[in-house]
Amino acid sequence: MAVFSGNAHPCLSAAIAEYLGLGTAAMEVSRFPDGEIRVQIHESIRGTDAFVVQPTCPPVNENLVELLVITDALKRASAGRITAVVPYYGYARQDKKAAGREPITARMVADLMTTVGVDRMITVDLHSAQVQGFFGFPVDHLTAVNVLARYMAAKRIEDLVVVSPDAGRVKLATQYASRLSAPVAIIHKRRLGPEEPEVAHVVGDIRGRTPVVIDDMITTGGTIDRSVVALIENGAKPEVYVMATHPVLVGRAMEYLAKPTIKEVIVTDTIPLGPEKHPDKIAVVSIAPLIAEAIRSVHTDGSVSRLFE
Ligand code: R5P
Repeated sequence: MAVFSGNAHPCLSAAIAEYLGLGTAAMEVSRFPDGEIRVQIHESIRGTDAFVVQPTCPPVNENLVELLVITDALKRASAGRITAVVPYYGYARQDKKAAGREPITARMVADLMTTVGVDRMITVDLHSAQVQGFFGFPVDHLTAVNVLARYMAAKRIEDLVVVSPDAGRVKLATQYASRLSAPVAIIHKRRLGPEEPEVAHVVGDIRGRTPVVIDDMITTGGTIDRSVVALIENGAKPEVYVMATHPVLVGRAMEYLAKPTIKEVIVTDTIPLGPEKHPDKIAVVSIAPLIAEAIRSVHTDGSVSRLFE
């Protein structure tokens, strides 16, 4: 077994390898003068059970093509099996045609991975679980719910309410709520008329309670910001917790998260955070042990489902 790291998140790759009692494999991923990706594997990997750790986070296109080129190198070096470990699967938003003449990029990336020779994938909290069906090979779809809920539970907040920022995340909110023994509230957005701005209604008892808004990812932070405003307008305590698996954090995200009504933002390390994206208010809980355990199970033909318990 060997763990290979692209340039997307070397710290996470190293943490995973260390948990498994390994170092990352001797591979160099650099650039030719014209910007093309150059991969050199410095040891024989014939027959190896290879795990390539590479979240396809921003810069998405760079990281995705690196993953493809690394896989091609492993395939041509006769690796026994290649597992793409993609803690954050980018391009997942477009998982259907929302309008005519649009691509389905979640499927397109799956096809690219298949073409270059990926044999299976380990990933965490896909934007929509049905994306698994785009792959013709096994996908181990892990969740950060247990890891994040454990962090939140340690705070022992008595009046907690788990808030889904929209109807699409109610199932996720319910999973958190059952682990935190807390009720669920939902933010329901609707337009009163075609020219009217969207208004947010809060469904559930939040008055005087401490909300934790959950989501799969924070991208521009707009969803979180609108949720926090709606919660406070509707009587929740102005000490809102935010919990999400993937800290994409682009655009105005840092500005929104800095607002004093947000007490703490809890995320995982599926995506690296530079110092400018890591103020004290953002707590990062590592996903490395969970991924490492999944790798161990895959390598030994053990159960991955046990990790959900
Ligand atoms: C939406 O379906 C997702 O679960 C997130 O709510 C969304 O991607 C967050 O994006 P943003 O931070 O840009 O509002």
